[in-house]
Amino acid sequence: MKFDNSIKLYERGLKSIAGGVSSQIRIDEPADVPLFFTKAKGSKIWDADGNEYIDYIQGMGPNIFGHAPDFIIQAVNLDMQNGFVFAGQHEKELEVAEMALEMIPMVNASVRFASSGTEIDQLAIRLMRGYTGRNKYIKFEGHYHGWTDSVSYSVHPNLEYAGSLENPFPVFESMGIDNGTRDSIVTCQWNDLDLLEKAFTNNKGEIAGVIMEPILANSNCIYPNDGYLEGVKALCEAHGSLLCFDEVITGFRIAAGGAQEITKVIPDIATYAKSMAGGFPIAMLVGRRDIMDFIGSGKVYHGGSFNSNVMSISAAHASLNYLQDPKRQLYKKMNNVGDSLIKGLREVAKSSDSDLHIQGNGSLFAISFTKEKQIRNWREHFLHCDEIKYSSFAKAMLSNGIRLSSNGRIHISSAHSYEDIDRTLEATKYALKCL
Ligand SMILES: Cc1ncc(COP(=O)(O)O)c(C=O)c1O
Repeated sequence: MKFDNSIKLYERGLKSIAGGVSSQIRIDEPADVPLFFTKAKGSKIWDADGNEYIDYIQGMGPNIFGHAPDFIIQAVNLDMQNGFVFAGQHEKELEVAEMALEMIPMVNASVRFASSGTEIDQLAIRLMRGYTGRNKYIKFEGHYHGWTDSVSYSVHPNLEYAGSLENPFPVFESMGIDNGTRDSIVTCQWNDLDLLEKAFTNNKGEIAGVIMEPILANSNCIYPNDGYLEGVKALCEAHGSLLCFDEVITGFRIAAGGAQEITKVIPDIATYAKSMAGGFPIAMLVGRRDIMDFIGSGKVYHGGSFNSNVMSISAAHASLNYLQDPKRQLYKKMNNVGDSLIKGLREVAKSSDSDLHIQGNGSLFAISFTKEKQIRNWREHFLHCDEIKYSSFAKAMLSNGIRLSSNGRIHISSAHSYEDIDRTLEATKYALKCL
């Protein structure tokens, strides 16, 4: 497979765009260079050299119907004839809010819109602080909540710098982060109630809230242990703190009601983004009305020129209608395709005597290489998963027309077919031989 055109474009890009990419994770594309793309439709994407791939990155999750679904193009095209950005209200944003509130299990709630997961998580943290009048919040190792200074700590920390389990240190993810934010963040290992209780007691009366991915999609796609989320909720209540689920990945993907529907645990507030608008930029904070009233009254400030812009709301409107249409059975279909890929991958791994490991299920799962039966938190991932091996695997898959993300997370869309699965399994047989 040749990447000559991507190489030329990347070299040109280095002169005008810092690092040649517009988001750091794109540097890690498992190719010779970060690839340039010319076209994408359904489950497929084509690079600047004409190479075709079955795409499991799908925009890092937003393309829940695959690339460029016709019904979204039509809806957006029609609505945008009447304007793009009003800096004012329009009826469709009410309809999207109403539909979302019907789909999400949280009751007596209201919403606010924004454009990205990063922004909406920042708003969630500000709201937890504003509502409780406290400054600190608990963030778990291995969880990602965007790239603001508030949360750029211990996403995937090197354990050499992360302290002990009982006394973990927040590890900076970047240079340039405001030193002050470190004092307000309490890091903790996820999936362990004793450690969380300790974090609360060590910071008595100071914790505004706990933010977490309820299903840890950003590290191995780890499900919470039985009773863990219920325990977290009880601890939050006991300590007068709020619980925020970051459903930026799980929301509208794993079920119409996201992780809340699957786990039956309802947080105080939750954030949504990626899969909500079929590939258009949107984000949403949902919360109990008495908490959201702090935003409604302006006590907690929230702004944004592009919030509820016509194109994103139109795409969200079309997406939510499509996702919740019972005739389509969309989640059942996506989950069947995803589960069939997982089953096939496990069979190929077994017959190849490989330690390829899968966690998660249906439309959201992760591939890693480990001898462990189960990975339950970031520290276990760090200690037991072979990232270099995964990276070689992803590279071999790419050269066979299968595009995987650099972090192992697989996004199944409603456009992925059983034929795609067969091609992926053939490529896997080859790729495992190359390791
Ligand atoms: C769980 C989670 N929260 C927040 C974000 C940030 O979202 P965005 O990239 O839209 O800013 C991401 C992005 O991958 C995410 O996975």
